[in-house]
Amino acid sequence: MPTAILQKEKLIPGRTSKLVLDAPHIAATARPGHFVMLRVSEHGERFPLTIADTDAERGTITIVYLVMGKSTTLLEEMGVGDSIPDLCGPLGRATHIEPVGKSHKVICVGGGTGVAAMHHIAKGHHRAGNYVIACIGARNKDLLLFHDELAAFCDEVLVSTDDGSFGMKGIVTDPLKDRLEKDKEIAEVVAVGPVPMMQAVARLTAGFHIKTTVSLNSLMVDGMGMCGACRVTVGGETRFTCVDGPEFDGHQVDFDELRSRLSAFNAQEKLSLDEYREHRCHCHNQA
Ligand code: NAD
Ligand code: FES
Repeated sequence: MPTAILQKEKLIPGRTSKLVLDAPHIAATARPGHFVMLRVSEHGERFPLTIADTDAERGTITIVYLVMGKSTTLLEEMGVGDSIPDLCGPLGRATHIEPVGKSHKVICVGGGTGVAAMHHIAKGHHRAGNYVIACIGARNKDLLLFHDELAAFCDEVLVSTDDGSFGMKGIVTDPLKDRLEKDKEIAEVVAVGPVPMMQAVARLTAGFHIKTTVSLNSLMVDGMGMCGACRVTVGGETRFTCVDGPEFDGHQVDFDELRSRLSAFNAQEKLSLDEYREHRCHCHNQA
């Protein structure tokens, strides 16, 4: 369904932007963990983005994307008043959130762009009355997303930057490890971000025997369980990220296979972006 862009904010110019979209049907039904599929041009691919926030009263959803390939480059060229040709959602299974109260401490870990998607999950836990600790990491303070938004409702926010420009110096698993060693009341960890980060979080929490959920960013084609493009191995079984996920038990995910599948089309994606930049891509140059 065509969807108007109501607001656009360049969170990190040239790298990451936030869009507020006019999508009342999705806003009314989406829950934390859900994602949408977008197609930004008539001949383009469909790709998934996890919903970062919703406002059912205004009828809007918020998405945040990293400008990586041709589709996100096309999206970045759109602005307020433009319309995204296809937006489909909410898709996937919502985060399983148990309202168990403040004694139920949840650490929501987000790395880089993944912090935006984690924000919606953290909000869900907060609304359920759980004790929420956000643990967010970025390469430096200029790349840190949603710090103020998370600080507005989380019980605590732990921050790390690789270069030490804000918060603890180190990667996001450093403050997480510190906390897990000191606090025996952590009931659950949720992680969203780059695959190596989610793998590192799952390895760490396995040693503490803490339930860990990861939100996977598999390649998708239809987003509805028909094509098999998003398959992942979880606990030795094939699962489809789009309909069985995107969240899975982090201790059961075959991350090495996921990494390999995510990089399968790197050469084609680079070629597609290069051709678009050189204005040699005929399908997007059609009037
Ligand atoms: P990045 O590479 O800048 O990393 C952000 C932070 O993640 C780092 O500062 C560090 O704290 C942590 N991190 C990274 N690698 C780690 C490791 N091996 N161990 C522990 N911590 C680690 O992040 P970015 O450039 O914003 O993200 C890029 C990738 O994240 C893309 O491939 C994108 O597809 C993916 N992503 C995934 C999701 C998802 O739903 N899982 C959402 C958004 C982005
Ligand atoms: Fe096609 Fe999941 S994207 S089955």
